[in-house]
This record gives sequence, C-alpha cells and structure tokens, in this order.
Amino acid sequence: MSDGVPERLRNILADIFAVPASQITADLAAGSIPTWNSLRHLEMIRAIELEYGVQFDPAQTHALSTVALLQRELKARGVTIGYLDPIVEHNRFYATEDRKTQPKEYFKFLTSLADPLLTPGARVLDIGCATGEFLHYLESVYPGLHMTGIDISEEFLDKAHKSVPKARFVQGNIQTKEGLPDTRFDVVFMAGVNYLFADPAPWLKNIVELTEGTAYVFGIFNPEDLDIRMMVSRSGSAEVQPWNLISQKFISSHLGDVSHRFIPWNMPIPNPRVHEDPLRSWTIPSDGGYLIVNGMQMIQRFAVLEITNPRNQRLHRS
Ligand SMILES: C[S@@+](CC[C@H](N)C(=O)[O-])C[C@H]1O[C@@H](n2cnc3c(N)ncnc32)[C@H](O)[C@@H]1O
Repeated sequence: MSDGVPERLRNILADIFAVPASQITADLAAGSIPTWNSLRHLEMIRAIELEYGVQFDPAQTHALSTVALLQRELKARGVTIGYLDPIVEHNRFYATEDRKTQPKEYFKFLTSLADPLLTPGARVLDIGCATGEFLHYLESVYPGLHMTGIDISEEFLDKAHKSVPKARFVQGNIQTKEGLPDTRFDVVFMAGVNYLFADPAPWLKNIVELTEGTAYVFGIFNPEDLDIRMMVSRSGSAEVQPWNLISQKFISSHLGDVSHRFIPWNMPIPNPRVHEDPLRSWTIPSDGGYLIVNGMQMIQRFAVLEITNPRNQRLHRS
C-alpha cells in the first residue's frame, strides 16, 4: 500500500509515457521503459510542474529518475500527494482528529439496519473507510467479523491499519474500480462518499459487483427529481471540490431491477458548528428535531440506500 502511486500522478505519467496506468509503480525508473527517454523526461517534469503548481530546480531534474524520487520531491515541496485527488482535501480532519470515542450517530443507524447480517464470520466491507473509525466501532459491537476497508487515501489507510489491526485495508477507488478486491462481501457499507461523484453509474455498478448480501450507502440523495452537480471552494482558494446531490430517481433508474430502497435518516442530537470550516455540517433545531446544514446554505437530507442481494439481478445501463 505504501508503495502505491497516487492516481493523479500515475495518470499524468501514464499519459506522457503512453503506457497503461497499472505500469506506473513507485520503482519505475528512467530508461526502464522505451518511452521514458530524455525528451519525455523533460515533458514529464513540465507536466508535473503545471499539474501541481511547483517548480523544480532545472539543475536537479535529471536526478528525478524514478517515480518514488518524484513523489519524494513533490512531498518535500509541500504537495499533498498521499491523496489521489485534491477533492478529498476537505476531509483532512479525519487524519488529525481522534474520532473513536464518540461514534457518529449514523454509525448506530447503519448497524441497526444491518444487525441481522452482522454475525461472526460475516465478510464486511467499508468503502471510503478513512481512518477506520466505522470499522473500529463495528468491531467493538460485533466481534468476529471479517472486516475490509477501502479508501483512496494512503495516509488515511496507514492510520486505519494501526487503529483496527485485525481488519484488512486496501487502497482502491470505488468510482474507477482501480484496486478494488475481486471478491464479494456479505455486507457492504459506504458512508459519506457518494456526494463526491457527479456520475452515480460507476460507483453503483462497482458496489453491486462487490455485494453478495446487502449494501448500505449512507449519504445525501435528493428526494426531489433534481440532480444537482456543484463545485465549492473556500473564497480565494484555487482548490475546488465537488458536492453533488443526485436524485433518488436517477439512482433508481441506474439500479434497474436490482432490489433497493431509500431509508430516510434524521439527526437525533444537536451537532455544533465548527467555525473554521464552513463545509462541515452542523444542526439547527426544527420541529422538535434537527436539520443538518452547512456553509453552502444547503439543508442536507440524509438517507441510506439499501441494495439487497444484487447478485443475479440486472443493473440497467451497466
Ligand atoms: C467524508 S469521508 C467519510 C469517511 C467515513 N466513511 C465516515 O463516514 O466517517 C470520505 C472518504 O472517502 C474517501 N474517498 C474519496 N473518494 C474515494 C474513492 N473514489 N474511492 C474510495 N474512497 C474515496 C476519502 O478519502 C475519505 O476517506
């Protein structure tokens, strides 16, 4: 895992050297493939400088002769390349906060839905597991599960591995399928991830392929028939991230004959605002309960998309 090359960098190098992205490993070196010649080396340096907004010392660029050295040099220049994509930058707080002592309310909701399936030996997958907070919670309530976590962030996975040593962690991308296991799981969870994707078709198809029993996707799904694709950045910052609200109708049309339902979830307790980060959600009281809002001036209505026994059922548009 620690040998992994972030997808963003891998794609640039694969383009320049005209090889499949899978060939771009940390130990790939200049001269080891015919297209990594001195001309393409200069093209590569230029492309990386443009992509990451850095400038290498021209006298040193010849020394950047392996992918690992390039990664090290980018890191030394403050580029966060542990993330495969800048879109997850907002979620950095997962790496710095200890979130294990107070499990999130929706963790409890998810386990209440999946409870009958969470028997010893059940194969459980958490997609977008970040630092393993949910798996840590699962392990404390349901010992004996076979747990796997997937995330695109190597940095998060390193932490997750320390926090839940009994689980297996894999670097993978639920949208592109890269790195995903080729086995199936009895119970699949994905929480707080789907808003990142403007197109639901790839992740839905990949989740269906990974699920033997039931999948539970916790996130925002528009109950109105509107698909809203948004990008947001902190004022003055060049860093943008998606915040998509895709309709239940559109998701259902992709799932076709695969049996599924949306189960609404309401926040049962108040959640204070974190003023430094207006993208982090907080609650406002409403009708004896709470509405979840964030600095995008959006009310966020959460639900669990439950997909049951997708095996042998037909996905539309797959
Ligand atoms: C908002 S966090 C949610 C973490 C956790 N599931 C929770 O509910 O607390 C989103 C997580 O999804 C991961 N992620 C983003 N894009 C992903 C992708 N394409 N495939 C897998 N994980 C992804 C991020 O690295 C991050 O850990």
